[in-house]
Amino acid sequence: MIQAIRGTKDIFPDTIYQWQYIEEKFREVSDLFGYKELRTPIFEKTEVFSRSIGEETDIVNKEMYTFSDRGGESVTLRPEQTAALVRSLIQSNFHNNRSASRLWYFGPFFRYERPQKGRLRQFHQYGAECISSPYPEADYEILALASNLIKKLGIEEYDLLLNSLGNEDSRKNYRETLIEYLKDHKESLSEDSQNRLEKNPLRVLDSKAESDINIVKNAPIILDSLDSESKDHFEAVKSLLDSTGLKYKIEPTLVRGLDYYSHTVFEFRSGSLGAQNSFGGGGRYDALFQQLGGKQTPAVGFAMGVERLLIVLEEMKKLPPQPADADVFVIVTDTKFINFANKIAAKVRASNKSCIIELQRRSMKAQMKEANKVNSNYTIIIGEDEVNNNSISLKNMETGEQKGFEISELSKISFD
Ligand code: HAM
Repeated sequence: MIQAIRGTKDIFPDTIYQWQYIEEKFREVSDLFGYKELRTPIFEKTEVFSRSIGEETDIVNKEMYTFSDRGGESVTLRPEQTAALVRSLIQSNFHNNRSASRLWYFGPFFRYERPQKGRLRQFHQYGAECISSPYPEADYEILALASNLIKKLGIEEYDLLLNSLGNEDSRKNYRETLIEYLKDHKESLSEDSQNRLEKNPLRVLDSKAESDINIVKNAPIILDSLDSESKDHFEAVKSLLDSTGLKYKIEPTLVRGLDYYSHTVFEFRSGSLGAQNSFGGGGRYDALFQQLGGKQTPAVGFAMGVERLLIVLEEMKKLPPQPADADVFVIVTDTKFINFANKIAAKVRASNKSCIIELQRRSMKAQMKEANKVNSNYTIIIGEDEVNNNSISLKNMETGEQKGFEISELSKISFD
């Protein structure tokens, strides 16, 4: 038997309604904030991601699905959306004309990670990006949108962790301070972190290795290296969150797994998820447009992992019940009535009610069992009497009540 690729999942009809439910919420919340959907290709030239996410990150170093296509071009299945979105805006001559562009997306992403609960090789993200505003109110808008979505989904218990990486000058200062501290502990760091120490010391803060975590605990924090511009920006974001009652915790070691961030970074975490406890994250990325060859354009955004959101919702019992396959199930007592029964089914569908009809020529008992299984509100039973009298028998599956109707009365039945 050919198996699916490790870390990928088929989504069957018995859970697809959960995806459709959550996707509907993504649209609703995006509309509420005036965000418009953008779709980009599933694969891009590799440099779109390597130049933006950062050569020293786990994503670029170890996790990308990169291959040469038949023309010899190095292409990569997108591990995230932000870089590809920026590429598409630059390519389409997007101009930073002081009117913010608000964009959202939903789709599959690919990372070669070790699969476990909430960690897949093909996973899905919903995200939103606010392009063109350098001001803290844009950071706040993204955080408000994400929080609105979380609330709409009914998630009450979660943490919003917040940090600032400041502007470039602040990060330069901090790099030096951090390198100095890490050098003193070099021997105890993991091999990856030793390699990254000089090239990209902020990555060490994001390391999951036990030995690194202990050292990072006592490292100098970036908030102490922020210059006044960076401090002001961060204070303004916090003040907006405070004045609108959005709760957050400051996490001074939060740097995120991608290199393109500046100023605000944040993550949403839930205790329901186990080791992979982050169900969303994002931040500001004011240098990314330039890094990918565009004009300097400030921007901020976030993405949520849909599989992780579904785990949280399941755990918190916030998913809606599985809907019925159809409002009405049409049963025939004998196959010879199938033409009449199909005429009835067509009439039901014409009144915009969904309708399923038997296709396996099974016994009436088996059909009734099926009607129960698909959870239809009503069954219509067609037998000799019904055909002779141009009528139907309608059974309410909840009350068990059964009543006869003339076909001419069919359009008046609500089937709700
Ligand atoms: P990220 O933190 O790499 O950020 O991913 C965002 C979310 O995607 C994570 O919080 C997690 O829920 C989900 N996720 C990531 N990897 C996996 C995986 N292997 N399996 C399941 N879920 C996963 C970004 O991707 C940035 N582009 C976010 C952003 C948008 N920053 C600014 N704008």
